[in-house]
This record gives sequence, structure tokens and C-alpha cells, in this order.
Amino acid sequence: MSEWSPESWLVAGGRNRTAGEPLNVPPAFASNFYLPDDRVYSRSDGTATTDALETLLGGLEGGRALVFASGMAAAAVVFNRLAVGAHIAVPTDPYHGVAGIVDEGEAQGRWTVRRLDQADTPAWLDALAQCDLVWLESPENPLMTVADLPVICGAPRPSTTLVAVDGTFATPLNQRPLDYGADVVMHSATKFIGGHSDLLAGVLVTRDDDVYEEFDRRRLLHGATIGAMEAFLTIRGARTLALRLERAQQNAMELAARLEVHDQISRVLYPGLPSHGTHAVAASFMVGFGAMLSFEPTGSGERASEVCARVELINHATSLGGVESTMERRAVIPGQERIPPSLIRMSVGCEHVDDLWADLQRALG
Ligand SMILES: Cc1ncc(COP(=O)(O)O)c(C=O)c1O
Repeated sequence: MSEWSPESWLVAGGRNRTAGEPLNVPPAFASNFYLPDDRVYSRSDGTATTDALETLLGGLEGGRALVFASGMAAAAVVFNRLAVGAHIAVPTDPYHGVAGIVDEGEAQGRWTVRRLDQADTPAWLDALAQCDLVWLESPENPLMTVADLPVICGAPRPSTTLVAVDGTFATPLNQRPLDYGADVVMHSATKFIGGHSDLLAGVLVTRDDDVYEEFDRRRLLHGATIGAMEAFLTIRGARTLALRLERAQQNAMELAARLEVHDQISRVLYPGLPSHGTHAVAASFMVGFGAMLSFEPTGSGERASEVCARVELINHATSLGGVESTMERRAVIPGQERIPPSLIRMSVGCEHVDDLWADLQRALG
């Protein structure tokens, strides 16, 4: 990333600063290239647009990036490289798509799984010695549990143990897993990196050349290639990540504090609140606490659904990380029955905080 701060790199990284070139690398709508050249076919060799996006995101995390058609396409590559009989450790409630991969492989006898509480650092340290893949998701969706990444990723481990961190909720601005010692960081760039709910994209970043080559080969084999327009829009969205995140996490902190003392709310989960179980861990290394929070209105799950149905400024929608706030009751999602029935997860956007608060108060009745 050179000597620039992440904020400057987000604005400047990945540009082709050659006289006559456009400032923004345009979308290269291309599968095929004139030969002879190193770039033969875009599924194997990418395009100028995907190169620019990989330079941008790799520089941000401090490694070499590979971009994918979605976050799940990126995550699948990390699991699919495991040999039959592998041992893996995952959080008790990872993103449900990742949980689907883990459960299916377990049912097929492909691997043995340890499901660990992300707050239980000793259990993760123990897993490092025993597992081929240690997969963390921090903060974890939707309880916002933060893993002690510097301690877990920095602990000694066998060279065969791959430590991967899904940092989607944190963004590359709030934590730097590779600096702490993780082998791989993964993001659903669909979320905060893209930032406008208008694309699907995923990324893996690593400093290990062998791991990079292996992921690259698997991306080629799986055909999980990002489209030209999506790559272009991801760059365009990422240019403003620092500004969006600054506003959104300020809003999140303010809303979390107001919700916590609201008489219609029984619990608020936000790593920035001193009441959150992993606040101290989060405060020890995270630059900011992010823009994701969960809360439970008093009463039944149906009441929580009614609250979601009543919002007018906030969007009742599943995805997250956009300029617009979204919220959703998580227990209604298949496979999420372990989530408290009235828990609403909110992705806080860039609207004015008082308007968001007024909307929430009205919806809470
Ligand atoms: C934490 C986390 N990881 C991974 C994913 C999967 O990303 P995508 O939807 O881009 O495939 C998501 C999507 O919601 C997510 O929230």
C-alpha cells in the first residue's frame, strides 16, 4: 500500500497513472484476447479491471488479493482445498452460507468440525494445533461477538494450519488480520466495500504465495469469476469506504446507546457498547466498532417482525453494508433457529442519525 494511509489508498489505489489513460480503469467487457500475450482468457487471467480491483483490495489488507463473483464463491475456495478427513474449527454461528458448506461437508464425512464460541480464546488456541483450517468470522453475524484476532492469529501453530478470517462486518479499515498473523482474510465485497447494494463480489487476500497460487487455480477451476461491471462498480464503491464507514459507525454507536436505554428494548448487541460481552477485546485492537448492531424489542418474535414491517426510512431487507440502513429479523431465516426469536439485525447507513432514531421510535410504537 506504499506509505499512504488506508483512506488515501482507497482513493488512489489501482489507478493506471499513465498519460492518456482514464483516471478510472473502465470495465473491460472481455473474455478473449489477441495472442500472443500473457492475458489469454479472462477466467484464467483476469482483465485490467479485475487487476485494478485486486491491487486496490490487496494493498488495503497488505497482501495479494483474488476477487470472486461473490463472498460465498471466495469462502467456498478456502473450504474446497481441504483434503478428505481434514479437521476444521468454525464459530458456533458463522454466516449461514458458510455454515451450509461446513454442515454439508460434515454430513458427507469430508471433515470433522469443532464449533467454538468466538469469545473462548483458549479453545481457539487449542484448535490451532489440531486443525487444518481455523475459520473465524469477526465480528460474528448476528451476535457481533468479536474474536481476539491478534492473540489467536498471532499464536504459534503448525505450518499446515491455515487461519482464515471473514472480516466482512469490520471492513479492512477496522482490523488487519494479516498483520496479526492470519494466513487469509476474506470479505463479502457485496457489503461495505461495494457499499451500495448493487453488486455481488468477494475477495481473498493472503501474503503466502503458495496459498495464493492454490486459490487462483481453484478460482479458475470453479469458474467463480467476477463480471467486468461488478469489478468496476466495486472499485467505484470502495473509493468512498472510509467516508461511508466513518458516518455509519458514528450513527451505529449513537443508535446503540439510545436503544440500550429505550423501554421497549430488552437487549442491544454492539461491540462498541461497554455492556457487550466482547467490548474489551474489540477495544483492544479494532480501529472502529463497525456499523452492524442487533437489538431485541420486548415481546414476541411476531412483534419484532411488526417493527421491521413498520420502518419507513430504514429498509426492511436482508443484506448489509450499503449507504442505506437495513434491518431484518434473523430467526426467520432457515437454519437460524438458534438466533433469539425477536433479534433484529441492523446495518446502519449514512442517513442523519436523528431521522433513523425517529424511524426506529415510530416503528417500536
Ligand atoms: C459475514 C458474511 N460473510 C459472507 C457472506 C457471503 O457473501 P455474498 O453474499 O457476497 O456471497 C455474507 C453475506 O451476507 C456475510 O454477511
